Amino acid sequence: MKTGVPWKAITIMAVMAISGLTALSAGADEVQSLRGVQVDEPVVMEPTARPKNERMQRAYRQQPPLVPHKVAPYQIDLKVNQCLNCHDWSNAGDHNAPTLSMTHYTDRDGKQTDAVAGNRWFCTQCHVPQVNAEPLVENEFKSSSER
Ligand code: HEC
Ligand code: HEC
Repeated sequence: MKTGVPWKAITIMAVMAISGLTALSAGADEVQSLRGVQVDEPVVMEPTARPKNERMQRAYRQQPPLVPHKVAPYQIDLKVNQCLNCHDWSNAGDHNAPTLSMTHYTDRDGKQTDAVAGNRWFCTQCHVPQVNAEPLVENEFKSSSER
């Protein structure tokens, strides 16, 4: 038997690939995101900053308090943490900002520290800006204060 180019197989594969691509692009038109719009459609967000003293209740006792102001302008990386410019105990008073509680000055061995502990460095890992948004996914969570 001759080992020529299997044109028939190549043609079938090409047809399959093309119809696959068409199916994909047709599908993309119908993909709905959890936000209720198409995936590539931007959603206008409510501003996160709230007037002073309009803080949301904590939903459970251990909840990291929500941030009542914007977080995006403040850089946090390995070397810089701009949140500390206002919240570190050494300068919170100058900015009229709440100072970090002692849990933020307690390292992983339970030793109390003068500078913020490494395990509290990435503030936005726990603290998120507050926004009165509908839950993305239906759920039965009830805040402790409502139970
Ligand atoms: C320019 C100063 C400033 C910077 C920078 C700043 N904050 Fe604040 N923050 C404040 C002030 C002032 C308040 C109190 C606002 C109020 O009482 O309504 C506050 C409140 C908070 C609270 C609420 C505390 C509570 O007990 O309810 C959290 C949490 C917080 N900030 C986290 C952050 C995080 C995280 C960053 C960095 C991404 C940051 N802040 C950067 C000034 C600042
Ligand atoms: C591992 C999670 C975690 C990280 C990281 C963290 N926090 Fe907190 N934060 C909490 C929790 C939980 C509370 C409330 C209980 C407490 O005070 O420990 C809190 C409380 C606070 C408060 C209110 C303190 C008070 O006495 O009312 C401020 C302000 C705050 N955090 C800011 C920050 C900033 C700024 C950073 C980054 C330098 C940061 N936090 C990092 C979990 C975290």
